[in-house]
Amino acid sequence: MVLIKSRFMSTRERLLRLLNDRHFQSGSALGKRLGVSRAAIQQQIAALRGDGVPVHGVPRRGYRLAAGVSLLDAGRIQARLSELKVTDVTRLHIRPSVDSTNNELLRAAGALHGTVCLAEKQSKGRGRRGKHWVATPYRNVMLSLGWVYQEWPAAISALGLLAALAVSRALERFGIADVGIKWPNDLVWRGKKLGGVLVDLGGEAGGACRAVVGVGINVSVSAPDGERIDQPWTDLASITTVLPDRNMVAAAVIAELTSVLSKFPMHGFAGELSEWRKRHVLEGQQVEIVAEGLLLTGRVLGVDDSGALLLRDREGVRHKFYHGEVGLRAWR
Ligand code: BTN
Repeated sequence: MVLIKSRFMSTRERLLRLLNDRHFQSGSALGKRLGVSRAAIQQQIAALRGDGVPVHGVPRRGYRLAAGVSLLDAGRIQARLSELKVTDVTRLHIRPSVDSTNNELLRAAGALHGTVCLAEKQSKGRGRRGKHWVATPYRNVMLSLGWVYQEWPAAISALGLLAALAVSRALERFGIADVGIKWPNDLVWRGKKLGGVLVDLGGEAGGACRAVVGVGINVSVSAPDGERIDQPWTDLASITTVLPDRNMVAAAVIAELTSVLSKFPMHGFAGELSEWRKRHVLEGQQVEIVAEGLLLTGRVLGVDDSGALLLRDREGVRHKFYHGEVGLRAWR
């Protein structure tokens, strides 16, 4: 069963919910519904905008959220998870703002297994290899799922690869074809970054393994944020004709993730390897790889069932790389 942690809703949160309506509402109508003055509404709206909430205002009509924006809604995600028969989610938290959803779960004392944290905004979103993850508030999907294995799965180094596979399957449910994976766990669409996965692991050897799987998907990136992304990127708004609702995308991702994570201790990565390789955009490609300060060029032979990248260099020597410490790009 999915439990939603509810708490007291501030005027700001209640206003946000009213603005989530597709229809415009005047400042005075909003004020009346919330029991505050029109001036107070204007102040709150200015504060929301300052925080990155895309509030659209039209003279003599009023306010609503910008077209295509819908707030994250625990009830809608929960309902969709029930339809998808997902039973592994025990807690679902939606935060207006956090430093990072992964950090939020890493800090959580107590139960981690099956806990999902989604945020409208991250102040210190983390990408792989120490990078900052740029995501437009209120418009993208930023979520983390906590999972606990009583013993460390043998193929634990492949967990991120498996999570990327789950996300690409989830996006396919919306008719988005051509979602590829770039080793180890970048989600790409026709050569441009669409999303990514960040896995944090904790626990002790011989004890339980605590995993936090973070997923970021570019749903609709603002132009200023786009300029801060240090590589070619795309978003769902650019590649779909009908933009899927973020709540539905989040639910699909959670469903696919819980499905692969629950099978992982028994099945490892080997069973998913052939599908993963079909989606792998570097399969058979010439690449440049930087590992331990050395630059190597070679052809990608694939990945193995521990998630390591296999490469043959120009002299015909085979190499194996584990993610985390290497930089990789297609070589032309
Ligand atoms: C990458 O570099 O490709 C990984 C990006 C992962 C971003 C997500 S957004 C939700 C979760 N919280 C974070 O701080 N990072 C991940």
